[in-house]
Amino acid sequence: MSNATITVLPGDGVGPEVTSQALQVLRAVEDLYGHTFTVHRGLVGLDAIEEQGVAISDATFETCAHSDAILFGAVGGLPAAAKRAGGPRPEQALFRLRKEFGFFANLRPVRPVEAMYEASPLKPEYLKGTDMIFVRELSAGLYYGHLDSVPGKPSEIRHNGQEAEAVDTLLYTEQEIERVVRAAFEIAAGRRRKVTSVDKANVLSSSVLWREVVERVARDHPTVAWEHMLVDACAMQLIRDPADFDVVVTENLFGDILTDEASMLTGSIGMLPSASLGVRRTEAGMFGLYEPIHGSAPDIVGQDKANPIGAVLSAALLLRHSLGLTREAAAVEEAVEDVLREGYRTVDIHEGGCTVVGTSEMGQRIRHKLTRS
Ligand code: NAD
Ligand code: IPM
Ligand code: MN
Repeated sequence: MSNATITVLPGDGVGPEVTSQALQVLRAVEDLYGHTFTVHRGLVGLDAIEEQGVAISDATFETCAHSDAILFGAVGGLPAAAKRAGGPRPEQALFRLRKEFGFFANLRPVRPVEAMYEASPLKPEYLKGTDMIFVRELSAGLYYGHLDSVPGKPSEIRHNGQEAEAVDTLLYTEQEIERVVRAAFEIAAGRRRKVTSVDKANVLSSSVLWREVVERVARDHPTVAWEHMLVDACAMQLIRDPADFDVVVTENLFGDILTDEASMLTGSIGMLPSASLGVRRTEAGMFGLYEPIHGSAPDIVGQDKANPIGAVLSAALLLRHSLGLTREAAAVEEAVEDVLREGYRTVDIHEGGCTVVGTSEMGQRIRHKLTRS
């Protein structure tokens, strides 16, 4: 029996709508399998800025620090953020959590469900056999570089000449590359044993160093096949032959962009979950942050339209990686597939002959399957 503490940070836009469904799935797991989950809630994003003046307060951060896992919705919203140009931004909540908890590996599995191949813009024959996992570096790179003029600050806009200029810095230390590449090789060893390392070594020094580290780490894993791939070519290969990928490891921004692209192999960005893991262990696994890869989706907020599956599958990853509840995680994943096989779809993954349901009905149907399995 598991006795775990989970901090839920629903955030902005559709974040609360999808997180509510994921949390109710965790509650169903708790009841069904006799676990005890203590749940704390915290403000992040626009509401936190409104009420506390920062995207995540120290108190909320501490609550997270005393938990086994964090279930996160989404942050961001254009109107309010635009009003406060130069002030705190909702995304800073994520940057702080990722950096200060050392979440350097962001796992984003992409596995199209056969029953809904038709929901993807790709022809079904291209999707067959697709089952890959991205390992996105999450706590360095362009998001966290250092300006020579202002150490600790990754970027700035300068207005000191006739013309304004802007600078962003892309910095990686060997150790920052090595730990995420090692994680990718270890994951590959438990899967189809292939790593694709994605970079832009024909242009970027950080990518040249990245390649050297990959080659060194690969020597420690002689049973894992590996390749270097340039990021532009990778964007193309993901569409041309997605089934060819197993584990893809790449730097922060490339991973951000490529996974939004790869999400369409599953039919929608609303389908993809993620787990952000670092160094701290929990009683039964790793301390982690779990969130769907999509954002606050301001265009569909409050309409019961958001697909909650990315959030629900993130809860499954939470069960597996932070609480060590493998059987329960698999049960949630199977419940999602069952509902999809029965033809229920949110509007983003809708295709002919299927039944369109809202966010809450999708969540309820997943819980119902879980209860009966
Ligand atoms: P987005 O992911 O919010 O939305 C892109 C498109 O996908 C929209 O058309 C939206 O309706 C659709 N979509 C997203 N999630 C969906 C779901 N669950 N079900 C159905 N459709 C869904 O990206 P955006 O519009 O570029 O960004 C909006 C805001 O979200 C920005 O402020 C951005 O910074 C933020 N954002 C936050 C996170 C996060 O919190 N992790 C991730 C990405 C973007
Ligand atoms: C994500 C998001 C974030 C990122 C944004 C909101 C800063 O796009 O988690 O994928 O770029 O990491
Ligand atoms: Mn993103």
